[in-house]
Amino acid sequence: MLTAGTNPAPRGDALLTADHVTVEFPARRRATVHAVTDVTISLRPGETLSLVGESGCGKSTLGRTLLGLLPPAEGDVLLDGLPILGRARVRELRRRVQMIFQDPYQTLNPRMTVRAIVAEPLRIRGVPKAQHAARVAQAMADVRLGEQLLDRHPHQLSGGQRQRVAIAAALVLEPEALICDEPVSMLDVSVRTQILDVLLDLRSRRELTLLFVTHDLSLAWAICDRIAVMYLGRVVEQGPAAQVIEQPQHPYTRALVDAVPVPKPGGGGRRELLSGELPDAARVPTGCRFHPRCPRRFDPCDHVDPPLLAAGPGDQRAACLLLDPAHGAAAAGGPAAPAAPSSTPTESR
Ligand SMILES: Nc1ncnc2c1ncn2[C@@H]1O[C@H](COP(=O)(O)OP(=O)(O)OP(=O)(O)O)[C@@H](O)[C@H]1O
Ligand code: SF4
Ligand SMILES: [Mg+2]
Repeated sequence: MLTAGTNPAPRGDALLTADHVTVEFPARRRATVHAVTDVTISLRPGETLSLVGESGCGKSTLGRTLLGLLPPAEGDVLLDGLPILGRARVRELRRRVQMIFQDPYQTLNPRMTVRAIVAEPLRIRGVPKAQHAARVAQAMADVRLGEQLLDRHPHQLSGGQRQRVAIAAALVLEPEALICDEPVSMLDVSVRTQILDVLLDLRSRRELTLLFVTHDLSLAWAICDRIAVMYLGRVVEQGPAAQVIEQPQHPYTRALVDAVPVPKPGGGGRRELLSGELPDAARVPTGCRFHPRCPRRFDPCDHVDPPLLAAGPGDQRAACLLLDPAHGAAAAGGPAAPAAPSSTPTESR
């Protein structure tokens, strides 16, 4: 049975938590880009959580904020349930949590050798130099790169080798968690499989916790324990990966699932395809931010902003008024007929 709830409270056993985090950027003409709005997600030790959603929905901004690279306008990032306050805690966060970016070209210094790049975090942390060679060799072995590459520069490596070097540099401090921001999306399919294989092997050997940012819902399903779906800065659905894919509760998740060739139990059913584009994050629609594109919207959707509501076992939640008993008959029966995508004007908030 569907029950009403609120945003989940941060879990005491979480390694890393975004607790009601909002991140904004200034835009032209005094507008504000609402990149992330009131997001609460927790990364539990040992799990793989995937953040999925269209380009521009705020995935990278949330990932960077979790690593302390962007300051939240509201809310907190918690490590072991406690806010990151003070430089010592930021240093602790950056030691225990590392990030891998989509484009290793942007993160690897072209003037440094592979050896220097992988050793750089050790140098910055003041790890005794006598330990560097062994730790660099271990990190290179972990990503299955030969030591003969140690004296090369990034431009002398293939795209896949560059991404492995970036992973080695992230691993050399032996972090507990990796935030992987689309780590394979710029790579050829064959190389992509190899890099995923390296990451998944490391996950089990080192008991790594992963936050895996991806556009690819089928990949999220294949490798993740839980999925959080973002839409225009909000998490609109989260829960166990199989449940979110097999029984999506939010119309946006349903449309994402329908748009990719994920084999679904029971096959077909009505497909809800997404129309229109993600609105400008400086002009967030009123009410439910998905309403201009939602095939199931009904009366209150353009003026009531739904919170995350409990939507089944295993912590599955979705931010949709169809799940809210307060909307009575309309919620119980759903909209009388699917509405055409609206041209409702958006407003700055
Ligand atoms: N430094 C910035 N200044 C202004 N706006 C920004 C900045 N960084 C991100 N944004 C805006 O914030 C929103 C979220 O961007 P973000 O990069 O987090 O999205 P994303 O989900 O990672 O997209 P993609 O899948 O394309 O990587 C977008 O509207 C983006 O244009
Ligand atoms: S609240 Fe309304 S517009 Fe938003 S997802 Fe649910 S039905 Fe669609
Ligand atoms: Mg991104």
